[in-house]
Amino acid sequence: MERAKIGVIGCGRISPQYLDNLAQRLQFCLDVVACADIIREAAERRAEEYGIPKVCSVDELLADPEVEIAVNLTVPAAHYEVSMAALAAGKHVYTEKPLAVTREEGKTLIETARSKGLLIGGAPDTFLGAGLQTCRKLIDEGWVGKPISAQAIIATGVHVERYHKIGVGPMFDMGPYYVTALVALLGPVVRATGSAQIPFPTKFNPDTSRPDFGQPFTVDTPTNVSGVLDFESGAVGVVTTTCEVLGYKPRLEIYGSEGILTCNDPNMFGGPVYIERRGGERREVAPTHYWNDRNRGLGVADMAYAIRNGRPMRASGDLMVHVHDIMHAIHDASREGVHVALQSRVDRPEPFPAGFKPDIFA
Ligand SMILES: NC(=O)c1ccc[n+]([C@@H]2O[C@H](COP(=O)([O-])OP(=O)(O)OC[C@H]3O[C@@H](n4cnc5c(N)ncnc54)[C@H](O)[C@@H]3O)[C@@H](O)[C@H]2O)c1
Repeated sequence: MERAKIGVIGCGRISPQYLDNLAQRLQFCLDVVACADIIREAAERRAEEYGIPKVCSVDELLADPEVEIAVNLTVPAAHYEVSMAALAAGKHVYTEKPLAVTREEGKTLIETARSKGLLIGGAPDTFLGAGLQTCRKLIDEGWVGKPISAQAIIATGVHVERYHKIGVGPMFDMGPYYVTALVALLGPVVRATGSAQIPFPTKFNPDTSRPDFGQPFTVDTPTNVSGVLDFESGAVGVVTTTCEVLGYKPRLEIYGSEGILTCNDPNMFGGPVYIERRGGERREVAPTHYWNDRNRGLGVADMAYAIRNGRPMRASGDLMVHVHDIMHAIHDASREGVHVALQSRVDRPEPFPAGFKPDIFA
């Protein structure tokens, strides 16, 4: 396949995790030709580390006819503006989560891309990793029978102020990994209800390296959120995200008529997967797929093949919109004391073929 030319916008903390893959492991299908950041030195640093030939402004990157896919790794508040500018310049867009801060902006991005015949999609792409692809294969092969129930929990203790702002918090920051995994495994959600609480309206800055260490701050967004999700398939799942407890406790389990599937942490590309069958013992299942490490960017490779082969991409904008819609619906339901019918819908993304060759995207 002719490699897809990539321009990376936003060269901050997460960018090395992407570039390890985009500019190295996924070089067989991707070619990073330019990078940009409003802080030019940040882009220069990454260009030097990864041998990226061109450092430029965002406008210059988007005006470069060589760039086919703009990878948007800026901060959430800039996602909409940067992605819109990229679409206006005729680029396909792969963005970090969230697609946009509001549901309306997300919808506008999807409609703009569609009207221009461009693809838009983005993170999380952990469901494309070996762990969750193994889980998907087990479900599709009937190892759990009919999926009836599911439980997704990410329970952490995170107390830095920036985590407590609107659009962040444990549901909007970590929820996408867990809710995307649920949709990728069980399909679309039709109805949601939930409870979203702020257990501690005032917290104290725990970062000893900051001048405002120990100072109080106001919690602006729920930090203890649980949703009940009715899937179109008939299964019912529970998703819990909290940053008010001890440690880091991830869990994703699918309970079926014939078995229980314990998935890897959906925030990761790999990790142990277990199956427990009726009358049997709990056994670890060997991975059936290749990508099992820190593989942020798999979704970009899949997008490149989707462009070349004229097929849908897996980590699509429609999937991002549905996941965002589910997370908002949980909050709306809690505020209004009702069940909320989902307005968006997406089919389960196609699974990857099993096997241990890196090039699984074709
Ligand atoms: N850091 C993580 O561990 C992590 C993990 C998963 C996802 N993410 C997501 O990745 C994205 C980036 O996070 P980060 O931690 O790398 O943030 P960061 O602040 O470290 O980096 C963002 C970079 O984008 C640049 N930038 C901001 N606005 C811009 C604009 N309009 N044009 C060009 N450049 C701009 C900033 O100068 C900065 O260098 C966020 O959406 C975040 O949710 C981060």
